[in-house]
Amino acid sequence: MPIIRTQTLIFFITALLLSACNNELDKHIAYGEKLFQQDRIGFTQAPGCILCHSLQKGIRIAGPSLYGIAQRAKQRYASDAEQYIRTSITDPAAYVVDGYRHDQMYPHYANDLDKEEIEALVDFLMQ
Ligand code: HEC
Repeated sequence: MPIIRTQTLIFFITALLLSACNNELDKHIAYGEKLFQQDRIGFTQAPGCILCHSLQKGIRIAGPSLYGIAQRAKQRYASDAEQYIRTSITDPAAYVVDGYRHDQMYPHYANDLDKEEIEALVDFLMQ
């Protein structure tokens, strides 16, 4: 009987910890989505992603649609997909999407955004 109780307790604690982690991740992704949708972003009020990127398939604004970006990044860069997206934000000239020039994306996010903002955007685009 005491053994069952211990196991039950461990089960509930684990379930609780897992759901707490998921909640944190969900909140982080929601924060990334909110940042992505803003016209201005970061403490310098830099131009927001949504001014140039649609999340709908095939809709090009100044930049490519980011619909399906996680899948594309995973196909091209496998385990480095997350790093690809992070670099595309902080150093956009490092990789240039076919059909675009290296100087078309706003280049100063590495200065304008803090680490948490960048990571939230990466997690939102990776989901
Ligand atoms: C002034 C317009 C502009 C703004 C603002 C902008 N981008 Fe871009 N973005 C582009 C262009 C143009 C490209 C394609 C050229 C290149 O790869 O540098 C691009 C490329 C990308 C890519 C690579 C896409 C792919 O298919 O591989 C990602 C990811 C990205 N941007 C994310 C963002 C995020 C996140 C923000 C906001 C923090 C943002 N961009 C803001 C214009 C913009």
